[in-house]
Amino acid sequence: MTEGTRTSFADAYGPWAVVAGASDGTGAALARELGRRGVNVVLVARRRALLEELAAELPVDTRVVALDLSADDAAESLASATADLEVGLVVFNAGADAHGTTFLEQPIDDLRGLIRRNCTTVMETCHRFGAPMVARGRGGLVLVTSGAAWAGGSHVAAYGATKAFDLVLAESLWAEWHHAGVDVLALVLGATDTPSLRRLLERHGGSFGELADPDDVAVEALDHLADGPSWIYGFPDPTGASPLGALPRRQAVELLSMGSAAMHRDT
Ligand SMILES: NC(=O)c1ccc[n+]([C@@H]2O[C@H](COP(=O)([O-])OP(=O)(O)OC[C@H]3O[C@@H](n4cnc5c(N)ncnc54)[C@H](OP(=O)(O)O)[C@@H]3O)[C@@H](O)[C@H]2O)c1
Repeated sequence: MTEGTRTSFADAYGPWAVVAGASDGTGAALARELGRRGVNVVLVARRRALLEELAAELPVDTRVVALDLSADDAAESLASATADLEVGLVVFNAGADAHGTTFLEQPIDDLRGLIRRNCTTVMETCHRFGAPMVARGRGGLVLVTSGAAWAGGSHVAAYGATKAFDLVLAESLWAEWHHAGVDVLALVLGATDTPSLRRLLERHGGSFGELADPDDVAVEALDHLADGPSWIYGFPDPTGASPLGALPRRQAVELLSMGSAAMHRDT
C-alpha cells in the first residue's frame, strides 16, 4: 500500500475505528489491517488480555474496551467508552454461534444472548455511531454476516436468522447512507479459519475443507468498503446475487442444511 492510499483511507474512515469482536480471528485481522492503514483502533471483546496483547502490537493509537456485547446495555457502554473519540468506521464482527447444535439443544438464555449480541447491540451500535458519521458526511460501517443468512437450515436456526437480520440491516443502511458519504458493507463470510470455528469443528468432529484466511478477508473487506451494499467473500462475483437465490426455497433450505451438516459428524 502506498503512503497516498494509506492517508486517503485514514482520511475517509479515521481517525478512529471501532472493531467489535477484535480479540481473535477476522476481527483481530481487521484491527491489524486498520493499523497498517493508519487508523486508530478501539478493540472490543470480552477477553481483555488478548485485546491488550493486540493493542501492544499495533502501530497506531488504541483503546481496549472489555465488554460483553450480549449485555442489555452493551451499545450504551461502548458509546460512553468512546464518547471522546471521533469514530469514522465501525466494524461489527462478533457474531458466531458457540453451540452449532439444533434449535432445541440450545439453552434459551444462550439464544437470548445471541439475539442481543447479533441484533439488538448491532442495531443500537449502528444508530449511535451512524448518526455522527451521516452528519459529518463521511465514514464507514461493516457488518459481518454469513452464508447462513441466505436461507433457513438445520443447526443454524437462530444464528442464521440473526445473520439475515445483519445482512438486511446493512443493505438498508447502505441504501439510506451512501448518498450521504457513508459506506456500508454487509460482509458475507463462508467457512473461515478462526479459533471459534476451530472449536466447533473439534467439538463436533466435522470439516469444511479449505477455510478462508482471516488476513485475506480483512484486506479484501477494507479494499472494498465502498463497493456495498454487500460483499460475498471468496465468490467469483462478490457483489452478485445470493448463490441460493435461484433455487426453490425448499431446495435452498435442504442445501444449506447439508452445508451445516459438514460440521456435525456426530449427529
Ligand atoms: N468463522 C467462520 O467460519 C464464519 C463463517 C461465516 C460467518 N462468520 C462470521 O464472522 C464473524 C466472526 O466469527 P468468528 O468465527 O471469528 O467467531 P466469534 O465467536 O464471533 O468471535 C469473533 C470475536 O468476537 C468476540 N466476541 C464473541 N462474542 C462476544 C461477546 N458476547 N461480547 C464481546 N465480544 C464477543 C470474540 O472475542 P471474546 O471471546 O474475547 O469476547 C472474538 O474476538 C461472526 O460475525 C460470524 O457470524 C464466521
